[in-house]
Amino acid sequence: MVKPASRVEQIPPYLFARIDKMKEEVRKEGIDLIDFSIGDPDIPTPPHIIEKMQEAIKDPRNHKYPSYEGMIEYRRAVSNWYHKRFGVKLNPEHEVVALIGSKEGIAHMPWAYIGNGDVVLVPSPGYPVYKISTLLAGGIPHILPLREQNRFLPQFDNVPDDVLKKAKILFINYPNNPTGAHADDSFYENVIDIAKKYNILICHDAAYSEIAYDGYQPKSILQFDKEKQYSVEFHSLSKTYCMTGWRIGFAVGNQDAIFNLTKLKTNIDSGVFQAIQYAAIEALEGKQDSVEALKKIFQRRRDMTVDGLLSAGIKVSKPLATFYIWAKVPEGYTSASFCEKLIKEKGIVVTPGNGFGDEGEGYFRISITINEKRIGEAIERLKTMKL
Ligand SMILES: Cc1ncc(COP(=O)(O)O)c(C=O)c1O
Repeated sequence: MVKPASRVEQIPPYLFARIDKMKEEVRKEGIDLIDFSIGDPDIPTPPHIIEKMQEAIKDPRNHKYPSYEGMIEYRRAVSNWYHKRFGVKLNPEHEVVALIGSKEGIAHMPWAYIGNGDVVLVPSPGYPVYKISTLLAGGIPHILPLREQNRFLPQFDNVPDDVLKKAKILFINYPNNPTGAHADDSFYENVIDIAKKYNILICHDAAYSEIAYDGYQPKSILQFDKEKQYSVEFHSLSKTYCMTGWRIGFAVGNQDAIFNLTKLKTNIDSGVFQAIQYAAIEALEGKQDSVEALKKIFQRRRDMTVDGLLSAGIKVSKPLATFYIWAKVPEGYTSASFCEKLIKEKGIVVTPGNGFGDEGEGYFRISITINEKRIGEAIERLKTMKL
Protein backbone atom coordinates (compact mmCIF):
# COMPACT_ATOMS: atom_id res chain seq x y z
CA MET A 1 0.00 0.00 0.00
CA VAL A 2 1.25 3.48 -0.83
CA LYS A 3 1.41 5.67 2.25
CA PRO A 4 -0.87 8.72 2.05
CA ALA A 5 0.56 12.19 2.60
CA SER A 6 0.92 13.24 6.22
CA ARG A 7 -1.45 16.12 5.50
CA VAL A 8 -4.16 13.54 4.87
CA GLU A 9 -3.15 11.25 7.72
CA GLN A 10 -3.42 14.08 10.22
CA ILE A 11 -7.12 14.68 9.39
CA PRO A 12 -9.41 13.14 11.99
CA PRO A 13 -12.36 11.18 10.53
CA TYR A 14 -15.11 13.56 9.37
CA LEU A 15 -17.46 14.12 12.31
CA PHE A 16 -20.47 12.54 10.66
CA ALA A 17 -18.55 9.46 9.56
CA ARG A 18 -18.08 8.51 13.24
CA ILE A 19 -21.75 9.11 14.01
CA ASP A 20 -22.83 7.13 10.95
CA LYS A 21 -20.92 4.11 12.25
CA MET A 22 -22.64 4.29 15.65
CA LYS A 23 -26.04 4.69 13.95
CA GLU A 24 -25.40 1.63 11.81
CA GLU A 25 -24.59 -0.48 14.87
CA VAL A 26 -27.75 0.58 16.73
CA ARG A 27 -29.94 0.16 13.65
CA LYS A 28 -28.73 -3.43 13.29
CA GLU A 29 -30.23 -4.09 16.72
CA GLY A 30 -33.63 -3.10 15.32
CA ILE A 31 -33.91 0.22 17.22
CA ASP A 32 -36.04 2.93 15.52
CA LEU A 33 -33.67 5.88 15.23
CA ILE A 34 -34.79 9.50 15.44
CA ASP A 35 -31.95 11.40 13.83
CA PHE A 36 -31.26 14.99 14.85
CA SER A 37 -27.62 14.91 13.80
CA ILE A 38 -27.37 16.35 10.31
CA GLY A 39 -27.97 19.91 9.12
CA ASP A 40 -29.77 18.93 5.95
CA PRO A 41 -33.33 20.27 5.52
CA ASP A 42 -35.92 17.49 5.19
CA ILE A 43 -38.08 19.73 2.98
CA PRO A 44 -37.78 19.41 -0.82
CA THR A 45 -36.43 22.14 -3.10
CA PRO A 46 -39.32 24.47 -4.13
CA PRO A 47 -41.02 23.35 -7.41
CA HIS A 48 -40.31 26.56 -9.42
CA ILE A 49 -36.56 25.99 -8.91
CA ILE A 50 -36.83 22.37 -10.03
CA GLU A 51 -38.83 23.41 -13.11
CA LYS A 52 -36.12 25.91 -14.10
CA MET A 53 -33.53 23.15 -13.80
CA GLN A 54 -35.64 20.81 -15.95
CA GLU A 55 -35.80 23.47 -18.65
CA ALA A 56 -32.10 24.39 -18.46
CA ILE A 57 -30.85 20.83 -18.52
CA LYS A 58 -32.41 20.28 -21.96
CA ASP A 59 -30.37 23.08 -23.53
CA PRO A 60 -27.13 21.71 -25.04
CA ARG A 61 -25.40 25.04 -24.37
CA ASN A 62 -25.54 24.12 -20.71
CA HIS A 63 -23.79 20.82 -21.29
CA LYS A 64 -20.42 22.46 -21.88
CA TYR A 65 -17.79 23.56 -19.38
CA PRO A 66 -19.16 26.52 -17.45
CA SER A 67 -17.08 29.65 -16.81
CA TYR A 68 -14.81 29.35 -13.80
CA GLU A 69 -16.16 32.32 -11.89
CA GLY A 70 -19.84 31.64 -12.63
CA MET A 71 -22.07 33.00 -15.39
CA ILE A 72 -22.38 36.76 -15.33
CA GLU A 73 -26.18 36.29 -15.14
CA TYR A 74 -25.72 34.32 -11.90
CA ARG A 75 -23.29 36.85 -10.46
CA ARG A 76 -25.74 39.64 -11.35
CA ALA A 77 -28.56 37.76 -9.62
CA VAL A 78 -26.34 37.48 -6.54
CA SER A 79 -25.54 41.20 -6.52
CA ASN A 80 -29.22 42.13 -7.00
CA TRP A 81 -30.22 39.82 -4.17
CA TYR A 82 -27.48 41.33 -1.98
CA HIS A 83 -28.64 44.83 -2.65
CA LYS A 84 -32.26 43.97 -1.93
CA ARG A 85 -31.45 41.99 1.19
CA PHE A 86 -28.59 43.97 2.79
CA GLY A 87 -28.53 47.28 0.91
CA VAL A 88 -24.96 46.46 -0.17
CA LYS A 89 -23.88 47.13 -3.75
CA LEU A 90 -21.58 44.55 -5.36
CA ASN A 91 -19.80 44.66 -8.67
CA PRO A 92 -20.81 41.33 -10.24
CA GLU A 93 -17.66 41.29 -12.39
CA HIS A 94 -15.10 41.49 -9.60
CA GLU A 95 -16.79 41.10 -6.26
CA VAL A 96 -18.76 37.87 -6.73
CA VAL A 97 -17.68 34.30 -7.47
CA ALA A 98 -19.86 31.20 -7.81
CA LEU A 99 -18.97 28.29 -5.53
CA ILE A 100 -19.70 24.57 -5.65
CA GLY A 101 -21.42 25.01 -2.31
CA SER A 102 -20.04 27.43 0.28
CA LYS A 103 -18.00 24.59 1.83
CA GLU A 104 -15.87 24.50 -1.30
CA GLY A 105 -15.01 28.20 -1.07
CA ILE A 106 -14.39 28.09 2.67
CA ALA A 107 -12.07 25.09 2.26
CA HIS A 108 -10.14 26.76 -0.56
CA MET A 109 -9.70 30.19 1.01
CA PRO A 110 -6.75 29.19 3.24
CA TRP A 111 -5.07 27.68 0.16
CA ALA A 112 -5.18 31.09 -1.46
CA TYR A 113 -3.73 32.95 1.55
CA ILE A 114 -2.02 30.64 4.00
CA GLY A 115 1.49 29.22 3.80
CA ASN A 116 3.61 27.31 6.26
CA GLY A 117 3.33 28.77 9.72
CA ASP A 118 0.73 31.47 8.93
CA VAL A 119 -1.92 31.84 11.60
CA VAL A 120 -5.67 31.54 11.09
CA LEU A 121 -8.09 32.52 13.85
CA VAL A 122 -10.62 29.73 14.15
CA PRO A 123 -13.69 29.62 16.41
CA SER A 124 -14.34 26.61 18.63
CA PRO A 125 -16.92 25.14 18.68
CA GLY A 126 -17.23 25.73 14.94
CA TYR A 127 -17.86 24.32 11.51
CA PRO A 128 -14.96 21.83 11.25
CA VAL A 129 -13.85 22.97 7.77
CA TYR A 130 -12.19 26.20 9.05
CA LYS A 131 -9.62 24.30 11.10
CA ILE A 132 -9.03 21.39 8.75
CA SER A 133 -8.52 23.57 5.67
CA THR A 134 -6.07 25.69 7.66
CA LEU A 135 -4.08 22.59 8.59
CA LEU A 136 -4.16 21.27 5.03
CA ALA A 137 -2.73 24.55 3.77
CA GLY A 138 0.12 24.29 6.29
CA GLY A 139 -1.25 27.01 8.55
CA ILE A 140 -1.58 27.16 12.31
CA PRO A 141 -5.13 27.42 13.66
CA HIS A 142 -5.35 29.66 16.72
CA ILE A 143 -8.50 28.71 18.58
CA LEU A 144 -11.01 31.39 19.59
CA PRO A 145 -13.21 29.87 22.30
CA LEU A 146 -16.94 30.63 21.96
CA ARG A 147 -18.39 30.59 25.47
CA GLU A 148 -21.93 30.89 26.68
CA GLN A 149 -21.12 33.75 29.09
CA ASN A 150 -19.96 35.77 26.05
CA ARG A 151 -23.02 34.85 23.97
CA PHE A 152 -20.77 32.59 21.91
CA LEU A 153 -18.83 35.52 20.46
CA PRO A 154 -14.99 35.39 20.38
CA GLN A 155 -13.15 37.63 22.83
CA PHE A 156 -10.28 39.29 20.97
CA ASP A 157 -8.88 40.84 24.15
CA ASN A 158 -7.77 37.35 25.14
CA VAL A 159 -5.75 36.78 21.95
CA PRO A 160 -2.04 37.59 22.40
CA ASP A 161 -0.82 40.54 20.33
CA ASP A 162 1.86 38.48 18.57
CA VAL A 163 -0.79 35.98 17.43
CA LEU A 164 -2.93 38.77 16.02
CA LYS A 165 0.13 40.16 14.25
CA LYS A 166 0.79 36.79 12.61
CA ALA A 167 -2.85 36.10 11.74
CA LYS A 168 -3.87 36.41 8.09
CA ILE A 169 -7.43 35.09 8.19
CA LEU A 170 -10.20 35.28 10.78
CA PHE A 171 -13.13 32.91 10.36
CA ILE A 172 -16.42 33.97 11.88
CA ASN A 173 -19.88 32.49 11.37
CA TYR A 174 -23.12 34.19 12.41
CA PRO A 175 -25.82 33.03 12.70
CA ASN A 176 -23.64 30.30 14.15
CA ASN A 177 -23.36 26.60 13.64
CA PRO A 178 -23.40 24.81 16.09
CA THR A 179 -24.43 27.25 18.85
CA GLY A 180 -27.33 29.03 17.09
CA ALA A 181 -25.84 32.31 18.37
CA HIS A 182 -26.21 35.60 16.52
CA ALA A 183 -23.96 38.66 16.37
CA ASP A 184 -24.92 42.26 17.04
CA ASP A 185 -23.67 45.41 15.30
CA SER A 186 -21.00 46.15 17.89
CA PHE A 187 -19.45 42.73 17.32
CA TYR A 188 -19.08 43.35 13.58
CA GLU A 189 -17.70 46.85 14.23
CA ASN A 190 -15.14 45.39 16.62
CA VAL A 191 -14.13 42.71 14.12
CA ILE A 192 -13.53 45.33 11.42
CA ASP A 193 -11.37 47.34 13.87
CA ILE A 194 -9.27 44.23 14.57
CA ALA A 195 -8.92 43.48 10.85
CA LYS A 196 -7.87 47.08 10.18
CA LYS A 197 -5.35 47.19 13.03
CA TYR A 198 -3.70 43.82 12.29
CA ASN A 199 -4.29 43.52 8.52
CA ILE A 200 -6.42 40.38 8.70
CA LEU A 201 -8.84 39.08 6.08
CA ILE A 202 -12.23 38.40 7.66
CA CYS A 203 -13.97 35.37 6.22
CA HIS A 204 -17.58 35.54 7.35
CA ASP A 205 -19.56 32.37 6.82
CA ALA A 206 -23.17 33.49 6.41
CA ALA A 207 -24.68 30.15 5.39
CA TYR A 208 -27.59 30.68 7.82
CA SER A 209 -28.28 34.37 7.16
CA GLU A 210 -31.83 33.63 5.98
CA ILE A 211 -32.88 31.16 8.68
CA ALA A 212 -33.97 33.51 11.47
CA TYR A 213 -37.00 33.89 13.72
CA ASP A 214 -39.10 36.28 15.77
CA GLY A 215 -38.52 39.11 13.29
CA TYR A 216 -34.72 38.97 13.62
CA GLN A 217 -32.85 39.80 10.37
CA PRO A 218 -29.18 38.79 10.37
CA LYS A 219 -26.77 41.30 8.84
CA SER A 220 -23.94 41.06 6.33
CA ILE A 221 -20.39 41.96 7.38
CA LEU A 222 -20.30 44.13 4.25
CA GLN A 223 -22.85 46.45 5.86
CA PHE A 224 -20.02 47.37 8.24
CA ASP A 225 -17.02 47.07 5.91
CA LYS A 226 -18.45 49.59 3.47
CA GLU A 227 -15.31 49.88 1.30
CA LYS A 228 -14.98 46.07 1.23
CA GLN A 229 -11.41 46.39 2.41
CA TYR A 230 -11.23 43.57 4.89
CA SER A 231 -13.97 41.05 4.28
CA VAL A 232 -15.25 38.21 2.22
CA GLU A 233 -18.64 36.66 2.92
CA PHE A 234 -19.63 33.10 2.06
CA HIS A 235 -23.24 32.30 1.25
CA SER A 236 -25.09 29.15 0.43
CA LEU A 237 -28.32 28.32 -1.35
CA SER A 238 -28.30 25.00 0.48
CA LYS A 239 -30.28 25.93 3.57
CA THR A 240 -32.34 28.90 2.34
CA TYR A 241 -33.78 27.04 -0.65
CA CYS A 242 -33.37 23.45 0.55
CA MET A 243 -30.73 22.80 -2.13
CA THR A 244 -28.00 21.02 -0.16
CA GLY A 245 -27.53 18.37 -2.85
CA TRP A 246 -27.35 20.84 -5.73
CA ARG A 247 -24.00 22.24 -4.62
CA ILE A 248 -24.17 25.95 -5.24
CA GLY A 249 -23.18 28.99 -3.21
CA PHE A 250 -21.16 32.15 -3.64
CA ALA A 251 -18.47 34.33 -2.11
CA VAL A 252 -18.65 38.12 -2.24
CA GLY A 253 -16.64 41.05 -0.97
CA ASN A 254 -13.06 42.25 -1.21
CA GLN A 255 -12.01 42.26 -4.85
CA ASP A 256 -8.46 40.94 -4.26
CA ALA A 257 -9.71 38.10 -2.11
CA ILE A 258 -12.32 37.13 -4.72
CA PHE A 259 -9.62 37.32 -7.40
CA ASN A 260 -7.18 35.11 -5.50
CA LEU A 261 -9.82 32.56 -4.57
CA THR A 262 -10.97 32.41 -8.21
CA LYS A 263 -7.37 32.12 -9.44
CA LEU A 264 -6.84 29.12 -7.17
CA LYS A 265 -10.16 27.55 -8.18
CA THR A 266 -9.43 27.80 -11.91
CA ASN A 267 -6.67 25.28 -11.29
CA ILE A 268 -8.82 22.89 -9.29
CA ASP A 269 -12.43 22.85 -10.49
CA SER A 270 -14.26 23.93 -13.60
CA GLY A 271 -17.16 25.88 -12.18
CA VAL A 272 -20.78 25.06 -11.40
CA PHE A 273 -22.98 23.17 -13.93
CA GLN A 274 -24.82 25.92 -15.81
CA ALA A 275 -28.25 24.31 -15.44
CA ILE A 276 -27.76 24.55 -11.67
CA GLN A 277 -26.75 28.21 -12.00
CA TYR A 278 -30.01 28.89 -13.89
CA ALA A 279 -31.96 27.14 -11.14
CA ALA A 280 -30.09 29.22 -8.56
CA ILE A 281 -30.93 32.45 -10.43
CA GLU A 282 -34.59 31.40 -10.23
CA ALA A 283 -34.15 30.76 -6.49
CA LEU A 284 -32.64 34.21 -5.86
CA GLU A 285 -34.92 36.18 -8.20
CA GLY A 286 -38.16 34.19 -8.10
CA LYS A 287 -40.88 34.18 -5.48
CA GLN A 288 -39.60 33.95 -1.92
CA ASP A 289 -42.71 32.53 -0.26
CA SER A 290 -40.97 29.17 0.25
CA VAL A 291 -38.34 30.89 2.43
CA GLU A 292 -41.04 32.43 4.61
CA ALA A 293 -42.81 29.06 4.87
CA LEU A 294 -39.54 27.33 5.76
CA LYS A 295 -38.85 29.80 8.55
CA LYS A 296 -42.33 29.24 9.99
CA ILE A 297 -41.79 25.47 9.99
CA PHE A 298 -38.41 25.75 11.71
CA GLN A 299 -39.73 28.28 14.21
CA ARG A 300 -42.51 25.88 15.28
CA ARG A 301 -40.01 23.03 15.55
CA ARG A 302 -37.61 25.20 17.53
CA ASP A 303 -40.31 26.13 20.06
CA MET A 304 -41.49 22.56 20.38
CA THR A 305 -37.96 21.16 20.79
CA VAL A 306 -36.77 23.75 23.30
CA ASP A 307 -39.93 23.42 25.40
CA GLY A 308 -39.59 19.62 25.26
CA LEU A 309 -35.93 19.68 26.29
CA LEU A 310 -36.68 22.00 29.20
CA SER A 311 -39.50 19.76 30.39
CA ALA A 312 -37.08 16.80 30.26
CA GLY A 313 -34.71 18.72 32.56
CA ILE A 314 -32.15 19.75 29.95
CA LYS A 315 -30.69 23.25 30.04
CA VAL A 316 -31.16 25.12 26.78
CA SER A 317 -32.15 28.52 25.40
CA LYS A 318 -34.07 29.46 22.27
CA PRO A 319 -31.86 30.46 19.32
CA LEU A 320 -32.96 33.43 17.21
CA ALA A 321 -31.53 31.86 14.07
CA THR A 322 -30.28 28.63 12.40
CA PHE A 323 -31.96 25.26 12.68
CA TYR A 324 -29.66 24.15 15.47
CA ILE A 325 -30.31 23.92 19.18
CA TRP A 326 -27.25 23.88 21.38
CA ALA A 327 -27.99 22.24 24.71
CA LYS A 328 -25.98 21.44 27.83
CA VAL A 329 -25.40 17.79 28.67
CA PRO A 330 -26.77 16.94 32.12
CA GLU A 331 -24.42 16.91 35.08
CA GLY A 332 -22.21 13.85 35.34
CA TYR A 333 -21.90 13.26 31.61
CA THR A 334 -19.45 14.22 28.89
CA SER A 335 -20.71 15.12 25.42
CA ALA A 336 -19.69 11.69 24.15
CA SER A 337 -21.13 9.67 27.06
CA PHE A 338 -24.48 11.51 26.94
CA CYS A 339 -24.83 11.19 23.17
CA GLU A 340 -23.98 7.52 23.36
CA LYS A 341 -26.58 7.00 26.09
CA LEU A 342 -29.20 8.85 23.99
CA ILE A 343 -28.59 6.73 20.94
CA LYS A 344 -28.24 3.38 22.71
CA GLU A 345 -31.06 3.74 25.25
CA LYS A 346 -33.53 5.93 23.37
CA GLY A 347 -32.60 5.69 19.69
CA ILE A 348 -32.12 9.47 19.56
CA VAL A 349 -29.19 10.68 17.49
CA VAL A 350 -27.66 14.09 18.29
CA THR A 351 -24.19 15.44 17.64
CA PRO A 352 -21.72 15.59 20.56
CA GLY A 353 -20.53 19.17 21.07
CA ASN A 354 -16.85 18.24 21.18
CA GLY A 355 -17.15 17.11 17.55
CA PHE A 356 -17.10 20.84 16.74
CA GLY A 357 -13.90 21.43 18.71
CA ASP A 358 -12.75 21.01 22.30
CA GLU A 359 -14.71 24.07 23.41
CA GLY A 360 -17.92 22.28 22.48
CA GLU A 361 -17.37 19.77 25.29
CA GLY A 362 -20.31 19.72 27.70
CA TYR A 363 -22.89 20.41 24.97
CA PHE A 364 -24.78 18.58 22.24
CA ARG A 365 -26.35 19.84 19.04
CA ILE A 366 -29.84 19.10 17.84
CA SER A 367 -30.65 19.79 14.21
CA ILE A 368 -34.40 20.33 13.84
CA THR A 369 -34.47 19.01 10.30
CA ILE A 370 -37.07 16.34 11.06
CA ASN A 371 -40.86 16.69 11.26
CA GLU A 372 -42.93 17.66 14.29
CA LYS A 373 -44.35 14.17 14.74
CA ARG A 374 -40.86 12.70 15.13
CA ILE A 375 -39.76 15.59 17.35
CA GLY A 376 -42.80 14.84 19.56
CA GLU A 377 -41.83 11.16 19.75
CA ALA A 378 -38.26 12.04 20.66
CA ILE A 379 -39.45 14.33 23.46
CA GLU A 380 -41.66 11.57 24.87
CA ARG A 381 -38.67 9.20 24.83
CA LEU A 382 -36.47 11.82 26.48
CA LYS A 383 -38.92 12.38 29.31
CA THR A 384 -38.63 8.70 30.26
CA MET A 385 -34.85 8.84 30.46
CA LYS A 386 -33.17 8.69 33.85
CA LEU A 387 -30.57 11.44 33.86
C1 LIG B 1 -21.62 26.94 9.03
C2 LIG B 1 -21.70 26.26 7.72
N1 LIG B 1 -21.03 26.79 6.69
C3 LIG B 1 -21.06 26.22 5.48
C4 LIG B 1 -21.74 25.05 5.25
C5 LIG B 1 -21.66 24.42 3.89
O1 LIG B 1 -22.82 24.56 3.15
P1 LIG B 1 -22.84 24.30 1.58
O2 LIG B 1 -21.49 23.81 1.18
O3 LIG B 1 -23.90 23.30 1.36
O4 LIG B 1 -23.13 25.64 0.96
C6 LIG B 1 -22.45 24.45 6.30
C7 LIG B 1 -23.16 23.18 6.07
O5 LIG B 1 -23.65 22.53 6.94
C8 LIG B 1 -22.42 25.07 7.57
O6 LIG B 1 -23.06 24.56 8.60
